[in-house]
Amino acid sequence: MIAIGCDHGGYQLKQAVIRHLADRGIDFHDFGTYSEESCDYPEYGEAVGRAVASGECELGIVICGTGIGISIAANKVRGVRAAVCGDCFSAEMCRRHNNANVLALGGRVIGPGLALKIVDIFLSTGFDGGRHARRVAKISEIEDRS
Ligand code: RB5
Repeated sequence: MIAIGCDHGGYQLKQAVIRHLADRGIDFHDFGTYSEESCDYPEYGEAVGRAVASGECELGIVICGTGIGISIAANKVRGVRAAVCGDCFSAEMCRRHNNANVLALGGRVIGPGLALKIVDIFLSTGFDGGRHARRVAKISEIEDRS
């Protein structure tokens, strides 16, 4: 199950991503927003972050105008590692090296063609583990000290 959420700046791209997931038979939970009416991205970043951190959803996708604000919000949830990606290499490496569990996209930054490629790579790439697991564990230790 994939958690997905956006603000008004990410709404159009979220609709494209949802269609893409549905076409591929990938289950998702849409946490909103459900229109282009102005809203506040932290609410949706938190909702997706909590769904992923709790284990309710395996991975998450958050979308705002830049991907930045909503990724910052999602990253405030303990256990979330949200990565803003605007290219395919970053989408691959944030899974392989950082074990990112939330993908953040900028609806005003990239078009749907690239965004859907990034989504496919993010969802199909695994964590390399090994030395990267030690580093990711150190990120969790920062949360424990905070
Ligand atoms: C909303 O206007 C915009 O600030 C938001 O979508 C996002 O880009 C924030 O980081």
